[in-house]
Amino acid sequence: MTTHQDLIDRDRKVTFHASTHLRDFAHGDAPGRVITGGKGINIVDKDGHEFIDAFAGLYCVNIGYGRTEVAEAIYQQALEMSYYHTYVGHSNEPQIALSEKILELAGPGMSKVYYGMSGSDANETQLKIVRYYHNVLGRPHKKKVISRMRGYHGSGIASGSLTGLKAFHDQFDLPMEGILHTEAPYYYHRAAEQQGMSEREFSAYCAQRLEAMILAEGPDSVAAFIGEPVLGTGGIVPPPEGYWDEIQAVLAKYDVLLIADEVVCGFGRIGADFGSHHYGIKPDLITTAKGLTSAYQPLSAVIVGDRVWRVLEQGTGEYGPIGHGWTYSGHALGCAAGLANLAIIEREGLTANAAATGAYLQQQMQAAFGDHPLVGDVRGVGMLASLEFSADPARRTHFDPSLKVGPRIAAAAMQENLIARAMPQGDILGFAPPLIASREEVDEIIARVERAVNRVTDQLTREGALQTA
Ligand SMILES: Cc1ncc(COP(=O)(O)O)c(C=O)c1O
Repeated sequence: MTTHQDLIDRDRKVTFHASTHLRDFAHGDAPGRVITGGKGINIVDKDGHEFIDAFAGLYCVNIGYGRTEVAEAIYQQALEMSYYHTYVGHSNEPQIALSEKILELAGPGMSKVYYGMSGSDANETQLKIVRYYHNVLGRPHKKKVISRMRGYHGSGIASGSLTGLKAFHDQFDLPMEGILHTEAPYYYHRAAEQQGMSEREFSAYCAQRLEAMILAEGPDSVAAFIGEPVLGTGGIVPPPEGYWDEIQAVLAKYDVLLIADEVVCGFGRIGADFGSHHYGIKPDLITTAKGLTSAYQPLSAVIVGDRVWRVLEQGTGEYGPIGHGWTYSGHALGCAAGLANLAIIEREGLTANAAATGAYLQQQMQAAFGDHPLVGDVRGVGMLASLEFSADPARRTHFDPSLKVGPRIAAAAMQENLIARAMPQGDILGFAPPLIASREEVDEIIARVERAVNRVTDQLTREGALQTA
């Protein structure tokens, strides 16, 4: 019988893993794990160990694991017609129905849907649309795109440039030219000079910084702004009060397109169909992936607003068919999975559950960690939450990165059979449970995290790294 260890040993020899310490993994110095199944909010590894997955894979398995209804929809579609391309007007039935559903959820002002396979490729599509749009309108110099520090938008050359995290740039010669990063809407991390600001004042400050960047670059050169409604991989940080109103006023003033990257927030995660609805964002373009299929198939969707669509039509009138397409655009199996997934979200009221159980999650997180000696910030919205650890919460001081406090707490949670994610920049533990989670499951998640955090707190106190305990 093949054991778990056999599989891991074989894997170390042949696989180049995403976001992994390649040397340590290849040489057996970093752990491996082979996942073999899942049900509800739990996953199981080859040894039969069960873990609560409080991060829904990578914030994507929103309907939970083991939903045979989605598997059945994919199977039936594969039997009938697994693939034909969608170039030059070819289509398939699930694609048509899924586009209708997505536009219904997106609401007024949105016109068409373009499909890819990942959030990264969807943002590549966004950048091409933005260039095409301004070229057609006779503005060849309006090409720069402004993202935010700590934004996450993928890890390709262009999408990785939009990302505002160091690890995704260093050694890759990124960001590429023409992509700039403005202030992150990260109130907890505000600098000493912004110390006395209220959230609203800090939002106004972020908008001023954006405006100053647009003016310094020249408004005629700035094409678009991209942002996640809630900063995700950069730390799970809901925006400070008033942020999106302030930002949108600046973008409107300089005719800069707004791309809402809803790869995490889209399809219910924060208790609304889209994060844009929750925060009153009126985007020109929306990026979605993850929750679109709950990861039962790889699928992304770019939702194009009316204003941009009109120009795309005008452009093809002048230049002929658009030179953009993937072999797997509108893949029938992905679209079938998307339809089955959105049907479950609707039938089971999972968006409403994300709002209600999400509010409970936030409340219980505050109750458990609001005054904890290791925790500087407890934050979140809907089914997205994070804990930011601090050497001295009263002063918001960070730990020495070499202590690896975030990863240590994630490892301690793993010993409690709980998966929470050590976010890549800073000592932050992220939570994004499947939207099906119940209050009892939230209680269990928090009980396990408490044990993990307390254990590491004791270790750090013994090591003399914690100043206030
Ligand atoms: C907001 C956001 N945009 C884009 C992406 C990239 O998606 P993918 O990993 O599917 O390429 C992610 C992935 O986490 C994301 O969180």
